[in-house]
Amino acid sequence: MRRQSAIVEPPGLTTNQAPFIEQARRDGQLYIHQPYELYTVENHEAWRRLFARIAPRWERYANEHFQAGIHSLCLDPLHVPRLEDVNRFLQPLTGFQAKAVSGYIPAFLFFDCLRNRTFPTTITIRPPDRLDYLPEPDIFHDVAGHVPMHTDRAFAETLVRFGECAHTAAELVAGIRDKHQQVRRLTSIIRAMARFFWFTIEFGLMRAKDGLRVYGSGLLSSFGEIEHAIESPEVQRYPIQLEWAVNQAFEIDHYQPLLFIVESFDHLFSLVDELERWMRQGKLDNVAPGEPAVNERDLRSFL
Ligand SMILES: [Fe+2]
Repeated sequence: MRRQSAIVEPPGLTTNQAPFIEQARRDGQLYIHQPYELYTVENHEAWRRLFARIAPRWERYANEHFQAGIHSLCLDPLHVPRLEDVNRFLQPLTGFQAKAVSGYIPAFLFFDCLRNRTFPTTITIRPPDRLDYLPEPDIFHDVAGHVPMHTDRAFAETLVRFGECAHTAAELVAGIRDKHQQVRRLTSIIRAMARFFWFTIEFGLMRAKDGLRVYGSGLLSSFGEIEHAIESPEVQRYPIQLEWAVNQAFEIDHYQPLLFIVESFDHLFSLVDELERWMRQGKLDNVAPGEPAVNERDLRSFL
């Protein structure tokens, strides 16, 4: 006999436990709205705890552009943010907008969103018993980790420029007749772009007057790793070299042992320019094998 529970908890918008998201995926909807009323007390509590414990570490380790961004977005430390509210502050600054998605977005579509100043944003939040690590992105990673960076003009232009590179890649491979060659080259280019994104936008460090600061969103949204990235003697930190970053494999399930430093967002922008030049010259056609894997959906999204 099934045991009836006296109080039925509403399902809410918890990572991997949200019927609203499951339904959207079944319906093939990538872009969705944020059904704000579905957030439970527990969901808001997870946001509150994540925000409260990391805020002092932002002051200590985050770059100044991020700190200005947190301030100008007026993020509520107590409640999961409404994307509408976030966008009201964000859009006048750089034209960027956070757009709710049901989950994974194939690579080309993701990059193309950046080109159109749109950031695909997860709306679910991690369960309160797993505040430290979750392989999937959640709204804390996306809105507290990424979106404040989008308030900075130079950073926003870099993202747009990076998004344009995906179009360059699609044009370059469109002309290749031999299917096998086309897939082989495209796989390598996507891998190179994913690695560049990982070592900059997700896990980048920046030189500052008083040492190193974090600007990568994977670090900015991790209470443990933001400190580890700057303080731990176990982390290798090197000035970024494009040829190294695009050939360097990474694993997602532990603290990063290798991080790259940029001088400024103008420096980062110039690296994206160089990435595109290398792509056109065929220098990204044979990057070192290894992580990340490039899946069928990513490949098809470029063709
Ligand atoms: Fe991210």
